[in-house]
Amino acid sequence: MNRTIIAGIGSYVPDNVVSNEELTQFMDTSDQWIQERTGIRERRYVRRFEQTTATIGAEAAKIAIERAGITAGDIDFVIFATLSPDYFFPGCGVLVQRMLGLKDVGALDVRNQCSGFLYGLSVADQFIKTGMYKNILLIGAEVHSYAMDFSTRGRNVSVIFGDGAGAVILQPSPDPERGILSTHLHSDGADAEVLSMPNPGFHAGAHRPEWRPPVPPQKYGGVFITQDLLDREDFYPYMDGQAVFKKAVVKLPEVIGEALKANHYQPGDLALLIPHQANLRISQFVQQTLQLSDDQVFNNIQKYGNTTAASVPLALCEAWETGRVKEKDLVCLAAFGSGFTWGSALLKW
Ligand code: ACO
Repeated sequence: MNRTIIAGIGSYVPDNVVSNEELTQFMDTSDQWIQERTGIRERRYVRRFEQTTATIGAEAAKIAIERAGITAGDIDFVIFATLSPDYFFPGCGVLVQRMLGLKDVGALDVRNQCSGFLYGLSVADQFIKTGMYKNILLIGAEVHSYAMDFSTRGRNVSVIFGDGAGAVILQPSPDPERGILSTHLHSDGADAEVLSMPNPGFHAGAHRPEWRPPVPPQKYGGVFITQDLLDREDFYPYMDGQAVFKKAVVKLPEVIGEALKANHYQPGDLALLIPHQANLRISQFVQQTLQLSDDQVFNNIQKYGNTTAASVPLALCEAWETGRVKEKDLVCLAAFGSGFTWGSALLKW
């Protein structure tokens, strides 16, 4: 059975950089509060009505396709992971299919929040290993900036999240020593509401400008939502940050350890760990627990904030582009997020 390799990787972030200082111009927060608790210095926001989760996902996909040395017509399956889809339905997979002019191949949307990319990777790995598909496009992308509560009520959440996208092309490995060694998925719905958004967000207007609501969107940093919805809490993400922290710092080391153990490795064997960029303090805690050196852990949350399903491919792409990941390196990807859902993948690059 063939292993699965990442044959091409790409990422895309909007050019609109929003620093902590800029946030203080329209909300009650401070650079010091954000940096001390999360490590975040700045994040990217799309330009409203010009870009969506699907369009930035498509940008990342184009780069991954080119780097894999294939064309859009070669793709035989699409997986799109996001918690901020353009429409409540249909999913972003079909929108990317339309934008890139793919054949009428299957398109699957994954709704597993911060671990969505890991879930998508695991699904893709099974299809490649069985020989069913040869070129799977997997995208993780988010546009959070359209639907966050920038009032004092929601500031513990809104300062953390940013917009971005990452994509990979997965293929059967030509080299038996390279590729995904194993994937490990978990979930536990007991605390489903601890990090949740009860109602769908509304950024479909980006595709159909005539649907824009009459209320000017500048009120809360440009949140695209009508006044009566603005007053309802259940249209915004809710997070009990401390409950998330406590669970994440246990489950992430556990699932990384599970992947290492399954393949008879120790933490010291890792060339690089790419943890989901939830919060720099969570990543540092995981690093300490596993006794990893700074060289063994990659973080870029400082520049992009938490980009949920995009965070792992965005970090992996930067690690590869900057030479932190080299051929045959042992790399672990790990994520934890709303649900709770969590997972890991161990691979030889
Ligand atoms: N700016 C200034 N003050 C703020 C802000 C803000 N952005 N947000 C909250 N505060 C204030 C609160 O109003 C509160 O003030 P009070 O004591 O006067 O009432 C105080 O700071 C503490 O508020 P908490 O909500 O309890 O904030 P906490 O100290 O827990 O920090 C944080 C929030 C950073 C999210 C923390 O809980 C944490 O690190 N959680 C880990 C989870 C996480 O990072 N999740 C990220 C996404 S989830 C994921 O990817 C899996």
